Amino acid sequence: MLDSAKPKTATVTIDDQTFEMPILSGSTGPDVIDIRKLYGQSGAFTYDPGFTSTAACESSITYIDGDEGVLLHRGYPIEQLAGKSHYLEVCYLLLYGELPSGPELEDFEERVTMHTMLHEQMYNFTRGFRRDAHPMAIMNGMVGAMSAFYHDSTDITDPWQREVASIRMIAKMPTIAAMAYKYSIGQPFVYPRNDLGYAANFLNMCFSVPAQDYVVDPILARAMDRIFTLHADHEQNASTSTVRLASSSGANPFACIAAGIACLWGPAHGGANQACLEMLREIGTADRIPEFIGRAKDKDDPFRLMGFGHRVYKNHDPRATVMKESADEVLELLGVEDNPTLQVAKELERQALEDPYFRDKKLFPNVDFYSGIILEAMGFPTSMFTPIFALSRTVGWISQWKEQLSDPSLKIGRPRQLYTGETKRDYVEVEDRG
Ligand code: CMC
Repeated sequence: MLDSAKPKTATVTIDDQTFEMPILSGSTGPDVIDIRKLYGQSGAFTYDPGFTSTAACESSITYIDGDEGVLLHRGYPIEQLAGKSHYLEVCYLLLYGELPSGPELEDFEERVTMHTMLHEQMYNFTRGFRRDAHPMAIMNGMVGAMSAFYHDSTDITDPWQREVASIRMIAKMPTIAAMAYKYSIGQPFVYPRNDLGYAANFLNMCFSVPAQDYVVDPILARAMDRIFTLHADHEQNASTSTVRLASSSGANPFACIAAGIACLWGPAHGGANQACLEMLREIGTADRIPEFIGRAKDKDDPFRLMGFGHRVYKNHDPRATVMKESADEVLELLGVEDNPTLQVAKELERQALEDPYFRDKKLFPNVDFYSGIILEAMGFPTSMFTPIFALSRTVGWISQWKEQLSDPSLKIGRPRQLYTGETKRDYVEVEDRG
């Protein structure tokens, strides 16, 4: 029961005992009931699997209003950042809290650019993977291995090392993702080029070969940059919370980001972009859409419409709106406006949004619904979709990691449980077991 008197408190009643819990207000968004003392006072835990009603930290980086379809980074709407800014500027904003001045941006871009190369020994390390390994598996291993190659930036108590680790992660992730791709298709690794911008350099490392020149189309580089920007951060999602939980034990930054990559890979999270494109291909033609919508609605069928639904957005995902516009632009540029997958996606969206099941449950296309179509048109195989998400989200993970480490109330994350197993019983010798 919420108490209307000031300061706001909530009262929890257990049997005949009542406990007052303070209510904390943020700068915007729902209030939170501070239950930190609940267990100490009452001996009871709260139960919230999936964290549907639980704020696990305080943060000033990203704000989402899921009912209104709003996403703000440091207060700036994602539509404005995607339209007017660019990825490295958004990285600066997320990391340091404000948009950079001209010289600050130049300095930041210079620092990132000077860290794009990898320790040469990492090329040998990467050659140990099977060629048919998924690029996410390779990336996960490579990022985890960074703590072995860059141990001069693993001391989290040293602000300088934290800063160097942050810049290294942002700078090297495109190199790592491109290497994972090149390795999986049996082509030589391409070194980063510091004369190219962040997105153009990534495209060059993915698509150039020693045998012929490759010129990065600036419009494609812009589209790539926008995809990075749209994925840069998303407050306390599963992979970010994984990074925070790993970091709460004092683990080094590379280990924490590797943990985030592992979590992102799942199809309910970053793996949805690959799963979505595979689903659209499987549907193939518009006449098969009702069959797949029927399956998504069938409680006895585990199938879900990939790229649909979101834990927080219950109106629309603003990233999906920008992504859909980008899909039209990129496909037009590439001369594939009549791309059959895009046609199926648009028709599927139309039919699903007219269906009471999706309307009533507030299920809308999310960021992953259209991103795969753009990436495929650019020439990426589906297995690279989630690595590109991981590359883009690295700055979000790193920003949240840095924020957490400077939070004086930081404690190791340690959820409790509702135990439903056997209570204490005596060990039985093997010959005496029935
Ligand atoms: N297709 C069909 N039914 C769905 C879908 C879907 N895509 N998503 C949710 N539902 C139904 C679900 O069956 C449930 O129905 P009921 O209340 O009758 O049991 C209801 O909607 C609520 O779903 P939920 O699983 O309790 O919701 P959640 O907040 O735990 O899950 C989600 C959110 C994103 C995991 C889920 O919507 C989903 O699995 N979507 C498909 C995967 C996907 O596109 N993921 C990308 C998310 S955005 C990018 C990212 O985070 O990485």
